[in-house]
Amino acid sequence: DTVVVSGIQPSGRLHFGNYFGALRQHIDLHTEHESFYFIVNYHAMTTVQDADTLRQHTLDVALDYLALGFDPDESALFCQSDVPEVTELMWMLLNLIPTSRLEKGVSYKEKVNAGLTPNAGLFTYPVLQAADILAYLGTRVPVGADQKQNLEIARDCARWFNQTYTPDDPLFPIPEPYILDDVAVVPGIDGQKMSKSYGNTIGIFDEGKELKKKVMSIVTDSTPLDEPKDPESCNVFALIKLFADDETQAEIAAKYRAGGYGYGHAKKELLQLITENFAEARARRKDLASRPDYVHDVLQQGADRARARVAPVMEKAREAVGLAPHV
Ligand code: TYM
Repeated sequence: DTVVVSGIQPSGRLHFGNYFGALRQHIDLHTEHESFYFIVNYHAMTTVQDADTLRQHTLDVALDYLALGFDPDESALFCQSDVPEVTELMWMLLNLIPTSRLEKGVSYKEKVNAGLTPNAGLFTYPVLQAADILAYLGTRVPVGADQKQNLEIARDCARWFNQTYTPDDPLFPIPEPYILDDVAVVPGIDGQKMSKSYGNTIGIFDEGKELKKKVMSIVTDSTPLDEPKDPESCNVFALIKLFADDETQAEIAAKYRAGGYGYGHAKKELLQLITENFAEARARRKDLASRPDYVHDVLQQGADRARARVAPVMEKAREAVGLAPHV
């Protein structure tokens, strides 16, 4: 049976990379399969070290999911820390993974290469992520391409645990990444991968002047207005493709190729597409933001569901490794 699991860090406002790379797939899948989506507040602690900020970002991610169509009666949306069992499973997995494996971690290496001293939380981050996935016996993990390496580690953790402790009756299924090619890497306003750490994001719920400013600052080349342009090498068109249907895309591409159509025109068209696409979600989000009790109940209900799922798994895991029973 397919069990969908995925997480998003509450480390700032979510952006188009998060949406097209992951969240949209989360929404699409959660009515079709049993799904567990966690707001990974433990993970965010590797960078967010102020309590009020962490709480605010956590609420923001919950509002985003609900505004974008998550239905709490269909699947579970909850805070990672409401299922603290994942940290216990992480400990079990930490003892199976060589440190050399974690030294190759991309985020960890980036920090080291930048001359910074990463904290041990960042170093062991992928193992907590493995525990997130395995605790729910997840089989399908919808993520962007940047999570491939972490998914490999999760798959290895499952294999190592099974081989070491439950060779005859494997406890954990090997999870499969679910990465859609077209949106595996959503580009930011400078053409690099859209990422909070590069400061090149457009927020899902940015609006008004802020949104306009970001769209207008998308980097383009200096081909003059009247000359033909190649849509496929244009950052603006890369984003237009995410929003426009095939017909609209073809129309806009034809205008690029014909000449007389400037990047400013394309940016206006993109701005329009963004505004229309999220209009309904934006209204819903404003309404939800005025009902924190409802959001609280949703997260509580999700956590109850998640803990019920995890309890028998952890009981088996504790027994398999020899932590229980005592005699
Ligand atoms: P995070 O919070 O950085 O990002 C959330 C999701 O958004 C995707 N994403 C992108 N996809 C395409 N193009 C982009 N420019 C882009 N930027 C972000 C990410 O790939 C991710 O799917 N480690 C995870 C959180 C996590 C998790 C888990 C995921 C913790 N436990 C268990 C899956 C399963 C992370 O930092 O995502």
